Amino acid sequence: EKGGYDTFMEKEIFDQPHAVGDTLLGRTDEAGHLVLDELRISEEQLKNVDRITVVACGTAAYAGMVAKYAIEHWTRIPVEVSLAHEFRYSDPIVNERSLVVSISQSGETMDTLMAVKHARELGALTISVCNTHGSTIPRESDAVLYTHAGPEIAVASTKAFLAQITACYVLGLYLSQLRGGTFADDAQAVMKELHEVPAKIEELLGTMGRVQEIARFMADTRSVLFLGRNVGFPIAMEGALKLKELAYIHAEGFAAGELKHGPIALIEPGQPVFVVVPGPDTPHELHKKVVSNIQEIRARGARTIVIAQEGDEDVVPFADEVIRVPRTSPLLQPLLTVVPLQMFALHLSTAKGLDVDQPRNLAKSVTVE
Ligand code: F6R
Repeated sequence: EKGGYDTFMEKEIFDQPHAVGDTLLGRTDEAGHLVLDELRISEEQLKNVDRITVVACGTAAYAGMVAKYAIEHWTRIPVEVSLAHEFRYSDPIVNERSLVVSISQSGETMDTLMAVKHARELGALTISVCNTHGSTIPRESDAVLYTHAGPEIAVASTKAFLAQITACYVLGLYLSQLRGGTFADDAQAVMKELHEVPAKIEELLGTMGRVQEIARFMADTRSVLFLGRNVGFPIAMEGALKLKELAYIHAEGFAAGELKHGPIALIEPGQPVFVVVPGPDTPHELHKKVVSNIQEIRARGARTIVIAQEGDEDVVPFADEVIRVPRTSPLLQPLLTVVPLQMFALHLSTAKGLDVDQPRNLAKSVTVE
C-alpha cells in the first residue's frame, strides 16, 4: 500500500502532482471560467462578503497564510488568518458579511470545528476546505470545497497542504471573477498557469538527490532556521514545523525582514539557514531584498541553503547550497518551494533512524481541544 516507497510520507510527497491536479479538476468550464456550483451559496451572498477570516491549525493554517496573499491580491477583500483555537477564545470581528473559511485535512480537528461553530453563531457564512468526505467540519459548515489529495496517512501533512493551497486559490479566483474587479480578467490566465504546476512538481521531485545528501550530513544538527518573505514566509514556517515534527530538531521560520529586528543575533558560524527566495519577477523588489538578507547572514557565518528559481544566478555568490525549483509566477511558487523542505525533513528523520510516519507525541487528527 506504500506503492514501493519506504514510508507513507514519501509516497504522499510523490503524490503531490496528483493532489494539485485533481483539486483543480472540474472547477472550470470549457472557456476556462471558474465554476463552483458545488458551493451551493448564491452569488449574491458571496458578492456581499466584505471580509474573509481563515481558521485552521498547524500546516493548514500555513496554507491559509499563503492564501491570504493571493486572495487579497486577486479580490481586494481583506483576509485575516486566525489559529482556530485563538479565534474561538477571542472576540473576533465577524458578522453576516464575513466569510469564514476553515481549512482542515481531516475535517475532525476539534479546535477548527469549534471555531466554525463560533463563526456561525456570529452570523458568518462558513466554507470548509476539507480533504475528508463525510467528516464533521464540512457537515457543520454552510458549504464545502473539497481538496482531492486522496487519503493522507502519514501524520505529517504534505500533499494535503498543496491541495489546500490549490483549493484556496480556486476560491480566490472564483471570488475575483464573481466580483468582476480589475483582476477578474486575469483569473483564467492564473488558472492556466496553475494547471501547469503538477508537471513542474513532477520535474522537481526528480531532482531531490542533493537534498537527501544535505540531510544526511546534517543528522547531528541541533537547530535550523528558515527565512522567507511574502508567500515564502509561511513556507519558511512550514519547513520549520516539518523539521520539528519529523526530526525533533529545534527549528524556526522567520519573515526575512524581521532578521535585523532580533533573530539575526542567533546567527553564528555554521548555523544552517534555509532561505526561500522569491523569483526575480516578484513585485516590490523582494528578490533583491532576500538576496541581501542571504548576504547579511552569510557574512556572519551562516551556512546558507538557498531555494531559488532556475536561472536565478544572483543567489549563487552567497549560497553554500542552491536547490533549484522550476519557474512559475510569484504567487504560485509555494506549491514548488515547499517540496524540498518536506524532503529535507523526511530524509533527516530517516537519517536519524526515526519513525517518519508516526512521530512521537503526535496523532493524525486532533479530536480534543
Ligand atoms: C503538520 C500537521 C498538523 C495539521 C493540523 C491540522 O504536519 O499535520 O499541523 O496540519 O493538526 O490538521 P487538520 O488539517 O486535519 O485540521
